[in-house]
This record gives sequence, C-alpha cells and structure tokens, in this order.
Amino acid sequence: MRVLFTGGSGKAGRHAVAYLLAKGHRVLNLDKMPLDLEGVENRIADITDAGQVYDVMSGYMGFDELEPGTGVPRFDAVVHFAAVPRILLTSDNECFRVNTMGTYNVIDAAVKFGVRKVIFASSETTYGVCFADGERKPDYLPVDEDHPTIPEDSYAMSKVLNEATARSFQRRSGFDIYGLRINNVIEPHEYLQNFPAYVADPAIRRRNIFAYIDARDLGQMVDRCLRVDGLGYQVFNVSNDNHSVAATTSDLIGRFYAGVPLTRQMAEDETFYSNGKAKRLLGFDPQHSWRDYLKV
Ligand SMILES: NC(=O)c1ccc[n+]([C@@H]2O[C@H](COP(=O)([O-])OP(=O)(O)OC[C@H]3O[C@@H](n4cnc5c(N)ncnc54)[C@H](O)[C@@H]3O)[C@@H](O)[C@H]2O)c1
Repeated sequence: MRVLFTGGSGKAGRHAVAYLLAKGHRVLNLDKMPLDLEGVENRIADITDAGQVYDVMSGYMGFDELEPGTGVPRFDAVVHFAAVPRILLTSDNECFRVNTMGTYNVIDAAVKFGVRKVIFASSETTYGVCFADGERKPDYLPVDEDHPTIPEDSYAMSKVLNEATARSFQRRSGFDIYGLRINNVIEPHEYLQNFPAYVADPAIRRRNIFAYIDARDLGQMVDRCLRVDGLGYQVFNVSNDNHSVAATTSDLIGRFYAGVPLTRQMAEDETFYSNGKAKRLLGFDPQHSWRDYLKV
C-alpha cells in the first residue's frame, strides 16, 4: 500500500515504519525531522499547520511518481503517530493543542482526499491510571476497551478527544478509522537496559498496569490494521501477551489490586491490559517477549 505515516521518526514510528517496509508497503514519513532509514521518503511538515498537512496528503511521494504522467496518486492509508508523546515535555496546553489540532488536521485531510483507511495512535493513558495524581486503580481487570476513559491530565485528555474526533469523521465518511490504545512502547535494546529494574521492583510498572508493547509487535499491529478492512470505527488495546514483570498475576493482584473485580479467570503471566479484541478482529499475534532477553 501507499502509506502516509506521520511521526515516523519517533521511538514507536521508526520501528513501525521498518516493519511496514519489510511487508512491502511504500511509506512517506511526515515529521518535523527526517527518518534516516533506507527505503523511506521524508517530508518535513508540521501537523498543526493544516496547509502543510493538506499539501503532503495531496502530493507525490518521490520523483518516480512524476513519470507516468497521470497526476498524483491517492494514498491507500494514513498512519498517524506524530504527537507530543506524554505530559511534562511542553506546557500542558501546548501538548493538548498539538495533539488535538494535529489529529484533526490529519484525519480531516485524509477523509477529504478520500483515503479510506486511517490508523491513529491513542494511548493506554486514556484509562486514567498512568498519569493520575496519586494512585488510581482500574475499575476492573483485565482492562479492555470498554473500561471508562476519564483521565486527569492534558496528554490523555488530548487522546480521548482524538478518539471522539476520529469517531465523528468515521461517521461522516464511512471509512475505516482504527485507534490504537498503545501501552508503553519498548525498543529491543530496552529489555536489557530497563527490565532488570522491573524484575527487582514490580511497583515501577504499576502506572502501566504492568503491561508493555514491543515496538516490532506494534509494527505488526499497524500492518494488521492495514490489511483488515470493513470494521468502521474501532479502538484496540495494543500490548504483549505477558506482564512486564516477573511476578505472577496472583502476586500482583494481592499486592496492588486488592478489591479490584476480576471479570474472568486470568493466567498467571497474562497481561492485565487485554489485547483480546486485537487478536479476535485483526489476528494480532505478538512475537516478542522480554523473557526472550532476560532469563529469570
Ligand atoms: N512511546 C510510548 O510508550 C507510547 C505509548 C502510547 C502511545 N504513544 C503514542 O504513539 C505515538 C508515537 O510516540 P513516540 O513514543 O514514538 O513519540 P516520539 O516523540 O518519539 O515521536 C513522535 C514524533 O512525532 C513528531 N512530531 C511531534 N510533533 C509534530 C508536529 N507538530 N508535526 C510533525 N511531527 C511532529 C516528532 O518529531 C517525533 O518524530 C504518539 O502519538 C504517542 O502519543 C506512545
């Protein structure tokens, strides 16, 4: 597919872009900085500037597309990752502005130019646990896509609003627009770097509901979304199958989740951040685990 990818130069994006290239897609990366990766074309642009977004959405990917003499081809899909990726990087209101207006501009342009598949990065933080003031427990476990999304911080608020924006654009267009409630993204080198501390002290992972998503498996998730059509508006939790700590489900419940209802029996190393919907509807099948890197 001919894919416009925003934010492809970032932590999550560069792995997802590499995965899409390996699967044979052609990718144009719209970002404020280029991604230095063979096979990727870059367009420096700012998602908060609607004119720039409209231009890239309606432009050539590369010089070769001038050759047929048949005008600019339409993108088959847009993957939108560009954002201020958490609180405490910019002012709260700047984070909210960039993420909400940027997402409006990207989806608006995609729909108006007839791009029938849009995938956008939402976040685990929408559930309100990650950036809560003090400790906030999930309403129930495992956390699935029906769990309330009432966060307290500007970043997660921007993601909740983006989901509403996406849902409304989907209703107008009838296109497929899928939101990914991505858990904490882990790059391959981070397993040896960070996970020994998580094994030593599982409490470090409480705000991520003890889950994680391998950056390459996130790439697989994006590819699955590109391949499965006809689902309309959807949101999907995106996580690996297991906890990011060595403790068992029963241990973690005893220590951190006393009184939180369980909606079903869970396996002892099963993520609290349910990826069942992605598996059911898209065939998502994560391939990586921190346990491949660390023997404990
Ligand atoms: N990293 C995580 O653990 C995580 C978890 C959940 C959701 N997400 C979401 O996934 C997406 C990617 O996150 P990431 O960790 O790769 O972040 P990142 O900061 O590493 O990458 C974001 C990219 O977006 C670009 N960008 C920012 N503002 C822009 C603008 N105005 N115009 C054009 N490009 C702009 C940046 O240059 C950067 O390359 C974000 O939407 C983030 O909210 C990330």
